Amino acid sequence: SQNIYILGIESSCDDTAASVIHNGKILSNVVANQKIHEAYGGVVPELASRAHQQNIVPVVDQALKKAQITKEDLHAIAFTRGPGLMGSLLVGTSFAKSLAYGLNIPLIDVNHMQAHILAHFIDEEGFNKPPFPFLAMTISGGHTQIVKVNSYFDMDVIGETIDDAIGEAYDKSGKILGLGYPAGPEIDKRAQLGNPKAFKFTKPKVDGLDFSFSGLKTAILYFIQKETKANPNFISEHLNDICASIQHTIIGIVIDKLKLAVKQTGIKHIAIGGGVSANSGIRNALKVGERKFGWTTYVPKFEFTTDNAAMIAIVGYLKYLDGNFAKQDITASARLKI
Ligand code: KG4
Ligand code: ZN
Repeated sequence: SQNIYILGIESSCDDTAASVIHNGKILSNVVANQKIHEAYGGVVPELASRAHQQNIVPVVDQALKKAQITKEDLHAIAFTRGPGLMGSLLVGTSFAKSLAYGLNIPLIDVNHMQAHILAHFIDEEGFNKPPFPFLAMTISGGHTQIVKVNSYFDMDVIGETIDDAIGEAYDKSGKILGLGYPAGPEIDKRAQLGNPKAFKFTKPKVDGLDFSFSGLKTAILYFIQKETKANPNFISEHLNDICASIQHTIIGIVIDKLKLAVKQTGIKHIAIGGGVSANSGIRNALKVGERKFGWTTYVPKFEFTTDNAAMIAIVGYLKYLDGNFAKQDITASARLKI
């Protein structure tokens, strides 16, 4: 039988990541986070590409070391072609092309959004793989998408955000409240200590399965401005209740759309990915969906749900088995579609 080692490289946003997969099993999954963006309250593209440039060689080295192989053992190099920040993508793309060329092994291009979904097919004890067809919802600082997944590489985007991503809704709300970046984890923590019905924010009216989060951010901004005018200590006196109310609104939006997606497609297997899938409120709401509506939900191991290279490596492996390789003249694509 076969014995395939593939290196995955991810550099689409602000994480430089490399991973080695042996057949379907991950041997190493290394991520260098870029702390530099915290001071700016968001990712600064120019700084991100410079940091990738510094990190990529040490991160790849570490991934090979942890997997206890050398680059000569590799059968192919998989890399994120897009979507993402162009300057960031160029670093991973150029590096992957050079390495594959130098080693004279196949190069495999990977769509980052497909990778978030196919992360569910990494062999990992205690985690089930969803059966086709299933619904995938990818929710993070950069993405908000519902996808109907017919097979590994046959996917239809059936809903996505028309403005901000869901994680941005968390992070921008956090900025208004004076919280650090990224604010999602702290809002989530505080939400569990507050009253979700303390304050009411109207949900956006968006047709079908698309999302909108920019109106919510504006509503929160105006609400906080008005309340702090009357009481300068409003935020500190009500922070947990504010967080709980924001979280309640966001989860309501997500669950409404999932219910509609299930109704429209008749598919009840739902796979969740992206950094926001760590959210406790969303996880609880999915459990309720399992009990109330007969859903089966799938959330990968945490390290495979935020931006990582293991998900790039698993797609690399699946494409390798198909002999689906890229040519050396392939270029990064910032707006690559599923
Ligand atoms: O997938 P990820 O690590 O990076 C990308 O954006 O691609 O996701 C980061 C996002 C940030 O917006 C962060 O605030 C959010 O995920 N996040 C959360 C939680 N943990 C991370 N949002 C809500 N609740 C959480 N527990
Ligand atoms: Zn991502």
